[in-house]
Amino acid sequence: MAETIRVIGDTLPGADLNAPLLEVDDLRVEFQVRGKRVPAVRGASFTLERGRTLAVVGESGSGKSVTSQAVMGILDTPPGHITGGAVRLHGVDLLDKDEETRRTIRGNHIAIVFQDALSALNPLWSVGFQIGELFRVHRGTGRKEARRRAVELLDLVGIPDAANRVGDYPHQFSGGMRQRVMIAMALALDPEVLIADEPTTALDVTVQAQIMRLLKRIQAERNMGLILITHDLGVVADVADDVAVMYAGEVVERAGIREVFKRPAHPYTKALLRAIPRVDAVGRELEVIGGLPPNPASLPSGCPFHPRCFAAEDKCAAEVPPWLEPAENHGSRCHFAQEVYTDER
Ligand SMILES: Nc1ncnc2c1ncn2[C@@H]1O[C@H](COP(=O)(O)OP(=O)(O)OP(=O)(O)O)[C@@H](O)[C@H]1O
Ligand code: SF4
Ligand SMILES: [Mg+2]
Repeated sequence: MAETIRVIGDTLPGADLNAPLLEVDDLRVEFQVRGKRVPAVRGASFTLERGRTLAVVGESGSGKSVTSQAVMGILDTPPGHITGGAVRLHGVDLLDKDEETRRTIRGNHIAIVFQDALSALNPLWSVGFQIGELFRVHRGTGRKEARRRAVELLDLVGIPDAANRVGDYPHQFSGGMRQRVMIAMALALDPEVLIADEPTTALDVTVQAQIMRLLKRIQAERNMGLILITHDLGVVADVADDVAVMYAGEVVERAGIREVFKRPAHPYTKALLRAIPRVDAVGRELEVIGGLPPNPASLPSGCPFHPRCFAAEDKCAAEVPPWLEPAENHGSRCHFAQEVYTDER
């Protein structure tokens, strides 16, 4: 069956079906802080295809959320400014589109789920009303039909007895259930790309796993592209297809998830992997990455990871490492990517 680009609410003029679903190309974002320009994202590049799950992994402050805000078109401007790069959906650059076009793309083509469901939901409205509102505003759906669709979505995301819970308010749901409601809202307009920014951080481990499985199931059923943002590589091991590892605003390694677990090509990724608890290593002490993430206002010279890197040499403080590809579809921003990849470092 030939695939068509869904044009809900509005068309995406110039869309090219042969182009990747979503392409982030050398994205750069700066913040104006006390009269100074501070880089938050310094060249993020990755591609997402339909039906694939990309994990974006990195420590706090590495630029994961700012990247997703820029992709969604919800960056706080000012103080934030996109200073370079491109975000292409079906080949169409979104960064030069006006706010009205971006608004149509949000929800209809790209949707986002945030970490904190409680603050993202309106406490004064029932969840059914909040989901139904999306259909009424964006599709002109009638009240009764909007409520029926809301029940359908709540059911889809695993809210038991959805027909009776649709009139309940956010505070009447548990944290995990509220996160499911947020996912239902993000799915309402049938987006092609879903970004989940630390969707399970506030939840306990069992609920985390349930939400991950839910996202994965829906992603597969709807053939969506899913971006999972997390600081924990372990959480995404079973659900992601590809990984982009971010450090100090840059993507420093990018590859298939199995490949990254088997043969990391960047010392930072190696360190992240050593910090994952493993069931077969009970009693072994977890390694932590020494030192702190750098201050974006005064980044170390050369490779920004060098003060914390176990493999650093003099060259690392002097020269910015290039993007190297020790294997096909496996890139790393490290002078010694090849040696790290072959475990000689
Ligand atoms: N509104 C803002 N004003 C100034 N700086 C900001 C703003 N929002 C983010 N930043 C800065 O941009 C950088 C990247 O932040 P971002 O929120 O993307 O990190 P993150 O990787 O999502 O971290 P976390 O894991 O803590 O969510 C940080 O240095 C942060 O301080
Ligand atoms: S370039 Fe040097 S400091 Fe940077 S990650 Fe590679 S070995 Fe470590
Ligand atoms: Mg974040």
